[in-house]
Amino acid sequence: MIKQIKESTDFLISRGFAAPEVGIILGTGLGKLIEEIEIEAEVSYNHIPYFPTATVEFHKGKLIYGSLEGKKVVVMQGRFHLYEGYTLQDVTYPVRVMKHLGIQKLLVSNAAGSINLNFKKGEIMLIEDHLNLLGGSPLAFYGVEHLGERFVDMSQPYDPVMNKALEEASKKNNITLHKGVYASVLGPQLETKAEYRYLKIIGADAVGMSTVPEVIVANHLKIPVSAVSVITDEGDPDNLEPVNIQDIIAMAEKAEPNMISLFREVIKDL
Ligand code: HPA
Repeated sequence: MIKQIKESTDFLISRGFAAPEVGIILGTGLGKLIEEIEIEAEVSYNHIPYFPTATVEFHKGKLIYGSLEGKKVVVMQGRFHLYEGYTLQDVTYPVRVMKHLGIQKLLVSNAAGSINLNFKKGEIMLIEDHLNLLGGSPLAFYGVEHLGERFVDMSQPYDPVMNKALEEASKKNNITLHKGVYASVLGPQLETKAEYRYLKIIGADAVGMSTVPEVIVANHLKIPVSAVSVITDEGDPDNLEPVNIQDIIAMAEKAEPNMISLFREVIKDL
């Protein structure tokens, strides 16, 4: 895999992706941060050697390079999900490439359903910890020790300094920022009432279908990482309303300006 990572990286450098400081992964319905970036280079995922190809049509599937708040950033507009049929290694491959490009920090966003019913649609949750319910690990493969240590410590997977900066950014901008535990499930089906009850019992505050693999790999590579969930629906098992992906995307787009404000503010000071 090392050879492939190097080839992907060399390709991106040849396209102008020079020494980004911060990596950003944008979740479902959360692509508009791109409009705030002075773009210097962009490449579709399917043109990057060894990158998985983008399949879900509402994801634009591009890697973007440019300046934001005076920092050089590399942004994934759209990510890969296990539910699209990719492996955990495919899903996390871009994180390894961004590390090789030189990122020193990683910011991640996603759309999620709330399990903690104090968290309402359109609000944002800072992920303080997570539950990996994906049934696998992106580190469970032969040769992983050549890329980093196998038995990665996960006692503090989310960077406390970056988290504090996000909290301060939320106060400064008057944005509600809840804190909680994110559970990652395979999907793509949404949860049953019984599953929402189960997620509550095991300590989840929000549930989604991403982020945890990328965060595990960021820890493997020792990249400090923070992640936020935009709450797009409420998983109240006693009052469950049908949700569909269009509603989820629409709600993500509605809440997106707040997420953008937080990311902008925090990038300034990274
Ligand atoms: N469950 C799982 N994934 C999600 C949800 C949800 O309720 N909302 C957005 N992504």
